[in-house]
Amino acid sequence: MTELLSLANYDVFVGNCTESLSLFLSNYSHRKVVILTDENTQTFCFDRIRHILPTNILEISIPAGEVHKDLITCQFIWEKLLKFGVNRNDLMINLGGGVVGDMGGFCASTYKRGIDFIQIPTTLLSMVDASIGGKLGIDFNGVKNSIGVFKDPKAVFVDPFFLNTLPKRELRSGFAEIIKHALISDKFLWQQIININIHTEINWTPIIVDSLKVKQKIVTDDPFEKSIRKALNFGHTIGHGIEGVMLLKENSLLHGEAVAIGMVIESWLSFHKGFLSEEEFISILLFLKRTFDLQPINEELIDDFILLMKNDKKNESDEIHFAVVGPIGKVHIDFVRDVPFVKKALEIYNHNLLQ
Ligand SMILES: NC(=O)c1ccc[n+]([C@@H]2O[C@H](COP(=O)([O-])OP(=O)(O)OC[C@H]3O[C@@H](n4cnc5c(N)ncnc54)[C@H](O)[C@@H]3O)[C@@H](O)[C@H]2O)c1
Ligand SMILES: [Zn+2]
Repeated sequence: MTELLSLANYDVFVGNCTESLSLFLSNYSHRKVVILTDENTQTFCFDRIRHILPTNILEISIPAGEVHKDLITCQFIWEKLLKFGVNRNDLMINLGGGVVGDMGGFCASTYKRGIDFIQIPTTLLSMVDASIGGKLGIDFNGVKNSIGVFKDPKAVFVDPFFLNTLPKRELRSGFAEIIKHALISDKFLWQQIININIHTEINWTPIIVDSLKVKQKIVTDDPFEKSIRKALNFGHTIGHGIEGVMLLKENSLLHGEAVAIGMVIESWLSFHKGFLSEEEFISILLFLKRTFDLQPINEELIDDFILLMKNDKKNESDEIHFAVVGPIGKVHIDFVRDVPFVKKALEIYNHNLLQ
């Protein structure tokens, strides 16, 4: 059984992908088909769909990891496409996590002014977040996602089967985005996930569907991030900062792990303002602590963090803009706090909230 979600220009299939993908590919029977993987998805994911692909396909595999989401890898991909004689009517399949999806989609959208592409996300993060919404791109000069385009795929096939081989830490990192979606917009989803123990076996399909519905609604209402799409930044204003300063340390955090800390601190800001009741705040705090084994932020890093926040060009003067939750299922965009207050919130996280 597959569930179907429709966005403005494309469908998202959730469930066993082989049948729906095979049907979709019949539209391309006389076209060239390219499949992009990284070294892990080539090993762990390709076999699930290999038998339904045409025999004459171009396989491109790239090294895994964010450090390869760059122009050098794009050049490698574009060269392969040219060499294989890929044309405007042909199709590219991006089989992988957010790195493969963002970069593969970007390469497809710019090659010969754009060829069709589909997303087959293989990480939890890319299933509920990166594969929908049309944002594509790469990192450039050390700035994340600084080169890119908005372009929709022809379809997205979300098959939870792929999660079986995903490292548990990556799985948990993606779960942070599901928690975010629940908190900003779906109290019912929150009530379901709050009982989840990430270390046990989980039936992901219904959770992924509900989580995708949250993002679907938001990106449909505001495709180019003029207003309500900012709600998706919940946990990310502080989360990105922490991710940034932690990158300099050896034991750096995964994206979702940093966002989990961000969600705790931003929920505290919301509780302090009175948007979240004490009871709701405590339930968020306890759930995130239990799921992510939250650790304090190294004191030296707090100053680096504040410097980074001040340098962020999105934040004029001393003010930092947030999207915060409260009550659960509702979000306030353009919530503003000054830098000293944010520093205080980080200290409270370290000294009070983690006790
Ligand atoms: N476009 C968007 O709207 C959007 C939203 C959120 C994040 N992103 C981007 O997504 C990227 C992060 O995505 P990610 O977390 O999926 O990272 P990723 O693509 O690097 O995947 C994480 C790791 O898991 C491996 N992997 C993937 N699927 C696997 C599987 N099924 N089994 C075993 N290993 C597997 C990958 O090879 C990689 O080593 C970032 O570049 C971020 O900017 C984009
Ligand atoms: Zn995120």
